[in-house]
Amino acid sequence: MTDDSRQDARSTVALDLLGDRRRSHRCAEVSAALVDQEVTVVGWVHRRRDHGGVVFTDLRDRTGLVQVVFRPDASTEAHARADALRSEFVILARGVVKRRSEDTINPNLPTGEVEVIASELRILNGAVPPPFAIEDDPGVEESVRLRHRIHDLRRPPLQRNLEMRHRLFQAFRRALSDRDFLEIETPILAKATPEGARDFLVPSRLQAGEFYALPQSPQIMKQLLMVAGFERYFQIARVFRDEDQRADRQFEFTQVDLEMSFVGVEEILEVLEDVICEAAKEGAGIELPRPFPRLGWADCMARYGIDRPDTRIDLELVELTDLFAESGFRAFRGAVDAGGIVKCLPVHDAEGLSRGDVDRLEAFVKKELGARGLAWIRVAADGAWQSPIVKFLSDEERAAIAERTSARPGSLLFFQADRAPRANAILARLRVDLGERLGRTDGRAWDPLFVVDFPVFEREDDGAGALTYMHMPFVAPREEDLPLLETDPERVRGTHYDVVVNGVELGSGSLRNHRVDVQRRLFELLGYDKADMERRFGFLLESLEAGAPPHGGFAFGYDRTVMVFAGVDNLRDVIAFPKTQRGQDLLMDSPSAVDAGQLADLHVQVVDDGEDD
Ligand code: AMO
Ligand code: AMP
Repeated sequence: MTDDSRQDARSTVALDLLGDRRRSHRCAEVSAALVDQEVTVVGWVHRRRDHGGVVFTDLRDRTGLVQVVFRPDASTEAHARADALRSEFVILARGVVKRRSEDTINPNLPTGEVEVIASELRILNGAVPPPFAIEDDPGVEESVRLRHRIHDLRRPPLQRNLEMRHRLFQAFRRALSDRDFLEIETPILAKATPEGARDFLVPSRLQAGEFYALPQSPQIMKQLLMVAGFERYFQIARVFRDEDQRADRQFEFTQVDLEMSFVGVEEILEVLEDVICEAAKEGAGIELPRPFPRLGWADCMARYGIDRPDTRIDLELVELTDLFAESGFRAFRGAVDAGGIVKCLPVHDAEGLSRGDVDRLEAFVKKELGARGLAWIRVAADGAWQSPIVKFLSDEERAAIAERTSARPGSLLFFQADRAPRANAILARLRVDLGERLGRTDGRAWDPLFVVDFPVFEREDDGAGALTYMHMPFVAPREEDLPLLETDPERVRGTHYDVVVNGVELGSGSLRNHRVDVQRRLFELLGYDKADMERRFGFLLESLEAGAPPHGGFAFGYDRTVMVFAGVDNLRDVIAFPKTQRGQDLLMDSPSAVDAGQLADLHVQVVDDGEDD
């Protein structure tokens, strides 16, 4: 829209002043109890209709809608002015509440039994026509919504989500504060904290060539607070991670972060369960079933192929690796020889899945998930096996597969032979997709659980590369596994735990290494040389020497928590001003170029390397 036409859209009408008029009721409060009383309401013109000389408007404020009617016999002046009203104009209307006639009652609106017959109208501001309808479903692409985020935020679902976000904040704060946690802020201009993503850096003006790192979490700082003797800390912390953006990942997000001293895993899990249940109840009206079941990480990976399972889905994976160690079927045997696994997802009563469906699934996992193939066996009604791989299988292999998978007429078995991380990820994805498509869910609304006993280490490159940490380098090993650090580090079980709700990882935590010798040994095993260790973590090691108590904690990914409780599947729907997949804010147009002078002050030069990202 040009500047001129924007101007036209707004200023065809002279504006009024608010003056000393104030609202007496919010829109949704205008009920039948107020019939024949005078009210003053304010808000945005949601809709305007002209019916035979009478102007009907739906007026909207944060609470909802109420119908305001401008009739010449109630006020000629208000009626005349109402002619100028357009969508999203900002007005104040005064009038008397009247019951609507039977045939005009709107049962879909809480205020649908009444209307306000206006005796006064003040037009407080005009507005350009909205780029889309301010409705539950605006019918436009998300990029349009994000470009026009103000209008988008006026839509009821986003108003509700942000209100829930607020209420959950208050509930978390209260629950933690009641349990003696102190809310303490930590710096945003900080030093790198390893949580596995790239850092966002801020150049220093005063120290040329040096940089602050924005925290990926307050992890080290909260550990320092434990050493400093605060015993129980929490913070609603904004954290920053430069990683690929997805529906459940943003560059900056919020954690409800906490840490406790002189505790073991049990006490922390107890606090977490209490706090999230209270917050869900108070902030979202959701009753989570207790106690939360616990799943060991290894068991969880074996059965679901993922460390954040939705256990409402009634399908489980079956381990077959040992069957194929000596097999004649090259595709499977080769995977096992290369250190991989063979696993199966059996789907019984799968007559509804056609050959075409199976081919499409195979194409999907190959293209999107990097699968080498998707072997399958269908058991026909007469018990015969139809399959592209059955000719490669020995009778013993067939018998063992049938037994482990409980195959029966109607069953469809899907196989993956690959390195464990990929084979598991592919079958986990199929499990969810097929479970949802075939309605194999047990009907529970809420499925909270703890996943516990994560390993401390894993290997890079899908299991083939160097030893690295699975979560972060501060996770304490289980005490009884400390000797394994010297002999078989990959088998060292850690104290890490996750809270998972409905298949979404809401948060994680662990006990930390309060003993400096153990922390040093972990850094060594992770391949940090001495100089690197001192440069990056010297201050932490030094603090641990100052008398660090045993401690541990947790962080809820707050945006994900709100997302799950609000029943949406995208973080952008619970964040006021989110960023796109490309990390841009389409409303403010950030990131953006800055003045050369500003760069010079920061001792920064921009090099054009011809790359966009
Ligand atoms: P972790 O790295 O698991 O743990 O982060 C905690 C939780 O934060 C959420 N989360 C995200 N949410 C939105 N966008 C992202 N990019 C993103 N990345 C993570 C997840 C996750 O479970 N310091 C440790 C916690 C601790 O051990 O106390 C930590 O940050 O829901
Ligand atoms: P091939 O012998 O390579 O034609 O494979 C026979 C069948 O096994 C095909 O259906 C492939 O999709 C499938 N397949 C091949 N490699 C794998 C693998 N690594 N994991 C699962 N299925 C596979």
